[in-house]
Amino acid sequence: MSIFPKKLSQKLENRIKDGSLRCLAESTSLVDFSSNDYLGFARNESLFSKTFQLLLKHNISENGATGSRLLTGNHILFQELESLLAQTHNVENALVFNSGYDANIGFFGCVPQRGDFVFYDELIHASIRDGLQLSHAKSYKFGHNSLKDLKEKIKKTISDNGDSDVYVVTESVFSMDGDSPDLKQLASFCISEGYHLIVDEAHAVGVMGKQGLGLVQELGLEKALFARIVTFGKALGTQGAAILGSNALRDYLINFSRSFIYTTALPPHDIVGILSSYEFLAVEGGAQRDQLFENISYFKGQAKKQKWSGNLIGSDSAIQSVIIPGNEKVRNISKKLRDDGFDVKAILSPTVPEGKERMRFCLHSFNSKEEIGLVLQLLSKYI
Ligand SMILES: Cc1ncc(COP(=O)(O)O)c(C=O)c1O
Repeated sequence: MSIFPKKLSQKLENRIKDGSLRCLAESTSLVDFSSNDYLGFARNESLFSKTFQLLLKHNISENGATGSRLLTGNHILFQELESLLAQTHNVENALVFNSGYDANIGFFGCVPQRGDFVFYDELIHASIRDGLQLSHAKSYKFGHNSLKDLKEKIKKTISDNGDSDVYVVTESVFSMDGDSPDLKQLASFCISEGYHLIVDEAHAVGVMGKQGLGLVQELGLEKALFARIVTFGKALGTQGAAILGSNALRDYLINFSRSFIYTTALPPHDIVGILSSYEFLAVEGGAQRDQLFENISYFKGQAKKQKWSGNLIGSDSAIQSVIIPGNEKVRNISKKLRDDGFDVKAILSPTVPEGKERMRFCLHSFNSKEEIGLVLQLLSKYI
C-alpha cells in the first residue's frame, strides 16, 4: 500500500482535535431514538412477509438488476411502481432513483442551467448542496424558513432575469431541526413570480398528512410545484427515492440526470419492497401515525417541563432537537445515554453550524412513554 497522503492525515487529525471525527457505530439493541424508521416499517414482520409473498407472486428469481435502467436494468415492475407513485401522489409522472441522495444530485446537477438562479434554504440537505455543486447555475442560500429573506435575496441578486429560470428549494420537514416552512405562502409567491418550487419530502412521506403522503399533498399544493422528492428509506422502511413532476421533467431526467443514467438500477426485490410498503402504508399507516403523534405530543409535553426547554427547537414532526452548544458536550451526553441503553445521536458541527450542536431525538410509533420519560430525565441530569 502506498503512504497515506499527508494532507488527508492532517484533515483527520483536525477532526480528532475539534471532536468532530466520525466513526461507524455498530447497530445495537439500544432503545431507538435515532433511526428514520418513524413508523417501524423497517422492522415490521408482517410487512416483511407481505413483501416476500409479493416476490413469489411476481415470480422474481433475479438477484440483481444487471445494468442501468437505460440498458438492461429496467425491470417491468418499475412501470407499475412509477404509475402507483404518480397516482398516489397526485402528479403527472414519477421517476425512481436508487436513493434520495442520488435523486437530489441527479436532479440539481442537470436541471438548473448556466445563467439560471437557485435559491435554497440555508439548512437544506447535503445531497441538494452536492447536486448544486455539479450545476452551472448560480446558487444562493436564504435564511431558514424565511420568505422575507428569500424575497430580499432575490431582489438583491436578480435585476432582470430575462430568459433565466429561477428555482426555489426547500424541505417540507427539515432533517436537523424537524420544522417546516410555510409552504402555502412559499408556493403562492413562486407562482406569482413564475419561479419553480422544489420540495424535498424525505422526512414527511409516511408521517405527514392524513394518509401519510407528505405535507405538499396535505396542503393541496401538488400542482403548484415544479418537482417533489420522496424517499423510501425513512418512514417507508425500504430503500430508494422518486422525483415527482411532469412528463417532460421525467423525459428530461432520463436523458440528462447522470446519477440515473450511470448506475445499476435497484434490484427487483427493492421495487417489490417499495410497492409492498406503499400498500402497507394505506392499510396500517394510520394506526402507526396515531401512535407516533401521541409520542410526539408526550415528548413535547415532558420536554416543556424541563429547565432546558428553551433549547428545544419548535417542531411538530418526529424530529425533536435540543440545542446543546459544543461538539465535546453533545458527544459526551450521547455516550452517557448510550451507556444507559438509549441511542440518541449527537449532531456535531460542521453537520450543523457551530454553536447549534444538538441532541437529535427521532421519535417512533414503537417508542413507549416510559422510554420517552426516562430518556428525558437522564438528559436533564446530564445537561
Ligand atoms: C432531506 C433529505 N433529503 C434526502 C436525503 C437522502 O435520502 P436517502 O437516505 O434515501 O439517500 C436525506 C437523508 O437523510 C434527507 O434528510
